[in-house]
Amino acid sequence: MENAAVKGKRIAAGKAIEYIKGGMTLGLGTGSTAYWAIQGIGEMVKNGLSVKAVATSEQSEALARELNIPIIPFSEVGQLDITIDGADEVDRGLNLIKGGGGALLREKIVAAVTKFYIIIVDESKLVEHLGKFPLPVEVVPFAWELTERKLAALGCTPRMRMAGDKPYLTDNSNYIFDCSFGRIEDPAGLHRRVSDITGVMEDGFFIGMADIVVSGTADGGARVIERGKL
Ligand code: A5P
Repeated sequence: MENAAVKGKRIAAGKAIEYIKGGMTLGLGTGSTAYWAIQGIGEMVKNGLSVKAVATSEQSEALARELNIPIIPFSEVGQLDITIDGADEVDRGLNLIKGGGGALLREKIVAAVTKFYIIIVDESKLVEHLGKFPLPVEVVPFAWELTERKLAALGCTPRMRMAGDKPYLTDNSNYIFDCSFGRIEDPAGLHRRVSDITGVMEDGFFIGMADIVVSGTADGGARVIERGKL
């Protein structure tokens, strides 16, 4: 049987794709929630909807191609009409932690050129304060030990993400450090301090980027949350 989180994700994705209209250029997110949105868009394309898309990971691009969603090169993208993506945590200001699936850098590049950025989550992702979920930070492999030390100096415990006995590599061939800060009082300030470290490519804070968050519940309901209304 489908568990509560999976149902919440599927319901949120189903609601989010209602915002899509023919002729739009879309950004496709990454992860187990975005998966449902891509499936839904695939279904809409099968039923005749005409859209174009770019993806935030090789995995999502492969899924989109399987579903015959037309993928265009980034050279053809000015602005994206809508991007639908998941998140690991969402606070009341609709600030996010993302990157649990390792695609944070591409996700942020895509989000930055998106007119209407929709985040889809099951309700367990809605939090009072960010930080229970360790902040993913994408780091260039060169001299990573120095970058790790600078991250630790900000007051966290950085843990290199592993794939078996080797460092996990992002689609951009970088490492990820999952940084446990505990409760984060000032996400924007911490984002600036993490980003200032040379060697950091990007962090998983998405501050003030989400336009709406759609949260799905196990009883089949979807809640659309606008900034300041969580
Ligand atoms: C991918 O790198 C992430 O940013 C995902 O969007 C995030 O981790 C949410 O993933 P799930 O939808 O799988 O929970």
